[in-house]
Formats: sequence, C-alpha cells, structure tokens
Amino acid sequence: MQQTNKGVRFVKRPLEKPDVSVFAMQERALNPIGQGQYLMRNIYLSMDPALVGRMRDEDNYADKVNLGDTMHAYGIAQVIQSKNQAVKVGEIRLGRIDMQEYSILSDASASTVINLGLADANWYLSAVGITGATAYFALNEIGKPQVGETVLVSSGGSSVGSLAGQIAKQMGCITVAIVSTDEKAKQVKQDFAYDQAISYRGKSIDQLSADIQKACPQGVDVYFDNTSGDISEAVLDQLNQNARIAVVGRLGISHLANSHDDIGRRDHNILLTKRVKKQGFVILDYQDRMKGALIRLARWVKEGQITGLEDRMQGIDAVPDAFFKMLDGKSTGKQIVQLAEINDMIDPAPRWLGRLMIAKYFPTRWLARRLTGGI
Ligand SMILES: NC(=O)c1ccc[n+]([C@@H]2O[C@H](COP(=O)([O-])OP(=O)(O)OC[C@H]3O[C@@H](n4cnc5c(N)ncnc54)[C@H](OP(=O)(O)O)[C@@H]3O)[C@@H](O)[C@H]2O)c1
Repeated sequence: MQQTNKGVRFVKRPLEKPDVSVFAMQERALNPIGQGQYLMRNIYLSMDPALVGRMRDEDNYADKVNLGDTMHAYGIAQVIQSKNQAVKVGEIRLGRIDMQEYSILSDASASTVINLGLADANWYLSAVGITGATAYFALNEIGKPQVGETVLVSSGGSSVGSLAGQIAKQMGCITVAIVSTDEKAKQVKQDFAYDQAISYRGKSIDQLSADIQKACPQGVDVYFDNTSGDISEAVLDQLNQNARIAVVGRLGISHLANSHDDIGRRDHNILLTKRVKKQGFVILDYQDRMKGALIRLARWVKEGQITGLEDRMQGIDAVPDAFFKMLDGKSTGKQIVQLAEINDMIDPAPRWLGRLMIAKYFPTRWLARRLTGGI
C-alpha cells in the first residue's frame, strides 16, 4: 500500500492578521527517496510567531513561503531511511521540517543531530534551541545588563521573553514583563520570577506608559523588544540614559500586511537625548557560537536555574488550531504539536556524550570548539 504524507498547505497570503483560511490540509503520496536524500518521521513541530513573517510577500530575514507549498515550520524528526552517507538511520535531528508528517531532505547540513543526553528532544524547541539562544545572545550581546539594572521584556510570557527574563534575573537585574492580560501578568510573575508584570490589552499608549513607569520606578535600562509597535512606543518615555534596546520581534505589528503601515511616534529625539542604543537581532548571525550557548542553557535547565512551560497538542490535524492558539496568546507555554514517538532503540547518538557536555567541570566553550557534527 502506498504510504501517504499528511500536511498543512499555505494557500492564501493574509492581508491582516492571518486566520485559519490561510491553511488547507493535504494528503500526498510519500515518494521514494533518491540518491543523497534522507527521509525523516517528524516527531515535534514548533509553532513559532516568526512564521507569520514568512507569509508576507516582502523581504524578511528568512525565506518566504510560496503559495501552495507546505507551510514552513521547525521541529524535531527521526531519520527512518537514508541514501546520504552523512546521515544515519535512527538519528534525531532538528531543522526546518515543515508542517507535515514526513520530510525528505537532501543536504545533511539542513538539519542538526541532537543528543538526548544533553536535553530531552522537546527542550531543543525551547530553552535548548533557537528560542533559548535568541534570549541568551540578544540579552548578553545587545542588552548587556548590569547587576541592579531594570530589564523590561515585552511579550514577557513568550518562550523567548520568559527565558530572557529568567536569565536577566539570574544576572542580578530587576525584571519586568509586559503581557496581554492581568491574569497572564500574575502567572508570569509566579512561573518566571519576574519582579513586576503589567498588561497591555485594551490600554492606550499613554496608559501603558504610565503603568510601565509604576512598574519600573528606576526607569528602564534594557528593553528586550519582542513586539515593536504600540507597546514599544509606550516604553520610549521610560528609558534611562544609555539604555539599550534589543529589537528581537514584531509580534505587535505582525497583523499588518505591509510593515510600511507601521506608523507611530518617531523615536529619534529620545534615542539622541538619552544616548540610547537600539539594535536589531537575528539569531542566524550567531550560528558559530550556538553550540557553546546551548550547552550552557542545557546545564541551566538541568540545574533548574531556568524553566519553561510547554503546551502540547497531538497529531497533524491539530496543527492549524495549535498555530492560531499560539498567535492568539492562548497557549500555556511553548506551543508544540507531537506527531509521533521517538524510537529510542535506533538512535545512534551516545547519551554519555550529551551528559558529559553539561557536566560542570567541562568549560562549555572548550567543548563546543572541539565537538563537531551535532549538538
Ligand atoms: N530575531 C530572532 O532571531 C528571533 C528568533 C526567535 C524568535 N524571535 C521572536 O521572539 C518573539 C517571541 O517568540 P516566541 O517563539 O518566544 O513566541 P511564543 O512563545 O510562541 O509566544 C507568543 C506570544 O506572543 C504574544 N503575542 C501574540 N500576538 C501578539 C500581538 N499582536 N501583540 C503582542 N504580543 C503578541 C502572546 O503573548 P501575550 O498574550 O502576552 O500577548 C503569545 O503568548 C517573536 O517576536 C519572535 O518572532 C526572534
């Protein structure tokens, strides 16, 4: 019997905030793999807000998705057939596998082997993956927080935001989150140890600015910006002299079909008079330093110094609902969809190596430089 591959097709470019009409379910025959290719069974798909940027017909830092193609997504998969010498059957890999049950890739470097001794597979989609590395590098390289400074995080309950908040707290900073609702504000203070958390939904820019002032009585030294738009405009008057802004995301303007429609107060006067540094961040620029960061993040997870919440749904049919649940801010943690179980018995990655990597007596940079191949 011909095996099939069920997935989610991108069928409509949204003019505003995308809704379920941009997707259609599809079921296609799974073709035999050719020389140099490998077939993976997809295990977990990550529902990321950045995927909205790929739906737009304008330049982005990532490829846009073409109409009619399977919708892009990152995830974890296990190799079940390989005609590529650099890829072994059983390997568990992280990469762009798209919203489908099976993926066929040609290039070994299009996905990375992961080691379950370092962290469980699902953690590679949050703290021990692009999410954690984004929080880590954007905070350290652009935010450069100092002990006692106030770090404000928009979308502070998001996977990236909550990690940035926890890392800043560990560094001795005062941490403040901006989230959608009062209920979520209570939750993020409890779960991610923020000192303060405030809500933005239903508030004018001036109201939100006043709330930020109350929550940050010493002003804002580092603004970790996941939203851009009105929320970031509300932060402007609360910035301290020499504040740093890491522009990490555009959740607050992702409903606009064209980013030229994002208009508001210009920030030049504040940046100039307060000597504020504002810099865009793209994780792709940190590829060569990624391994060291992931090992450090895995160590923090194992030691309980950072944590993350996960909202897991099951099966390919749940993917559209999971995606919009995440975009509506209704997910209770990192939104993932599980499509299959990992077959531990055929994974060739030595678990001891992963455990060794996070053992405290090994300097992570030294190890990261010497270890080649997967993480
Ligand atoms: N630059 C990079 O290299 C890079 C890499 C990875 C991620 N990112 C960015 O990091 C940010 C967080 O990503 P994530 O994966 O951590 O997200 P996530 O865990 O999936 O969280 C999404 C959150 O976004 C908030 N949100 C949704 N729509 C919003 C809107 N219209 N306005 C404001 N907030 C909204 C919701 O929180 P509330 O309910 O509190 O609003 C929701 O919980 C995103 O902007 C993403 O693009 C950037």
